[in-house]
Amino acid sequence: MCGIVGYVGSRDAAPILLNGLRRLEYRGYDSAGIAVFDGQRIQIRRAVGKLQGLIDQVAREPVHGHIGIGHTRWATHGEPSVRNAHPHLSQNGQVVVVHNGIVENFLALKDELQAEGFTFRSDTDTEVIVHLIERYLEGHGMGIVEATRRALKHLRGSNAIVVLAATEPDKLVTARLGNAGGITLGFGQDEMFVASDLPAILEHTRQVAFLEPGQMAVVTREGAQVLSLDGEPIPYEITTVPWDPVAAEKGEYRHFMLKEIHEQVRGLTDTIAGRIEPSAARVRFLHLEATPEFARRIPKIFITACGTAYHSGLVGKFYFERLARIPTEVVIASEFRYMDPIVPEGAVVLAISQSGETADTLAAMEEGRRKGATLWAIVNVIGSQAMRMADGYISMQVGPEISVASTKAYTATLADLYMLALYLAELRGTLSEAQRRQLIQDLLTLPDLVGETLQREDQYAAIARRFVRAQNMFYLGRGINMPTAYEGALKLKEIAYVHAEGYPAGEMKHGPIALLDENFPVLALAPRDPWYEKMISQVEQSRARGAPTLAVATDGDDRAASLADAVLWVPETPWLLSPVTSVIPLQLFAYHIATERGLDVDQPRNLAKSVTVE
Ligand code: F6R
Repeated sequence: MCGIVGYVGSRDAAPILLNGLRRLEYRGYDSAGIAVFDGQRIQIRRAVGKLQGLIDQVAREPVHGHIGIGHTRWATHGEPSVRNAHPHLSQNGQVVVVHNGIVENFLALKDELQAEGFTFRSDTDTEVIVHLIERYLEGHGMGIVEATRRALKHLRGSNAIVVLAATEPDKLVTARLGNAGGITLGFGQDEMFVASDLPAILEHTRQVAFLEPGQMAVVTREGAQVLSLDGEPIPYEITTVPWDPVAAEKGEYRHFMLKEIHEQVRGLTDTIAGRIEPSAARVRFLHLEATPEFARRIPKIFITACGTAYHSGLVGKFYFERLARIPTEVVIASEFRYMDPIVPEGAVVLAISQSGETADTLAAMEEGRRKGATLWAIVNVIGSQAMRMADGYISMQVGPEISVASTKAYTATLADLYMLALYLAELRGTLSEAQRRQLIQDLLTLPDLVGETLQREDQYAAIARRFVRAQNMFYLGRGINMPTAYEGALKLKEIAYVHAEGYPAGEMKHGPIALLDENFPVLALAPRDPWYEKMISQVEQSRARGAPTLAVATDGDDRAASLADAVLWVPETPWLLSPVTSVIPLQLFAYHIATERGLDVDQPRNLAKSVTVE
């Protein structure tokens, strides 16, 4: 979950590291630090809290050199504090390490190292790594590459590290063990970059290579050598990433979240373009293919994901079952491997992950693999682990998503799931050509409908101001918009810190309705879909209990207008696609409540963008 960056070249390292960290701050913002070799020794600057603290500190106490590493932390072991901030220095001051992941056996290693005389200066698990390296460097006279390789052999768990040694200040050593966070190598002109995520290096290079789990790399300004953990050289591929570096900038927007909400028209257009052949009523994917025989024999699809991605999977179930007639189970990824899933022969496990690095989702994929399923994935981050593990993948076409709260990845995934269902429907013969043609025509209208919805931001913001003091809220939905209720509530929780519960509307009378009073607003998802009547009656019931009511409703809906205290209007949308237009007012509602409350929308407390630990 932490962000890692490294640089070696001829330029001044500190500004490059700080700039890289600025673009990685979404990975964690409990503390930040850099280490630079200044020609004599390793200089460390660390500060607790957001990156600005570190930037200020470096301005007060500048540090210059041509090689260095940096880190932005999401605390796992040890409270957020300067002493627990990375980089961590070895006892002899010769080695420094940044780390992402969890060393599962760190207590045992710490005991062992303490018994050997090492003194620990932090509460982190990371410190065992740097002491282990020092042990091999000093005690066994090894070089930094070999000492790191030996140290890595002791670690259990998923970990990614970058190491800098004053004894060999021309190189960085980096490694990836397991699935915790990727390591990307960036190739510049006589300079090299290392980063946990692409946005940190995109402004310098788009030529990259990705480390696989169980690989390490020795990085000098001339290039990189990739090695196995047994020290054997491994050939690797350099790829050019298509992302535009400007996409990782906030531009004229106040927050990344707002920018990304508004990028949904473009995201959906790019997602649909190139995959649809309207004349032939066909959908095609570049990296996911199935034969009609394979598709016809799929007995079941498991969709597995976390958080917002999980909510998109709940909509996906509708698509796969209604359009392709494939039984589909949606499982929270952190539960998948513990439920001993019954995976029939020919089943597909479809993972959804914006980052492609979520530890639980990767573990669910591994479980699927163990049980013989075909692995498919819908992912955004190019080169991510989920992308590389999958037998077939769909790449979201939305560019980097920086805001911790996911928005554009959600709507693009809904479009991807819809298209995947159409693709399978064609292969399985479950829809006629005329039906598919109509569904494709519907999809083609979606970017415009989303554009129209976004133009209503001021109306949504005005309603948000009316509810800015709410402490609790219910978001109710049914059928295909039940996941929309979950997603809307999650947005409000995570960025506005309002207790919001997404709930199946039909379940209210079985208990939760007891909570309603004049201080408990109820937001009902009531666009024109097959559950509309039920949802309208839900608004009536909530009103009868004295709760303030809000509705997401379709333009011209007089009943919604007369019943609800506030209506978030959306344009008429084909009902299968209504989760896309209906979620947009909820994204903006949460955004405006949070900004009205003066909260940091892009970096909500306690969260990080990629959850690379269990
Ligand atoms: C919420 C949010 C999270 C993520 C979840 C999965 O706004 O962003 O709930 O959706 O952590 O992340 P990915 O999609 O990267 O696997």
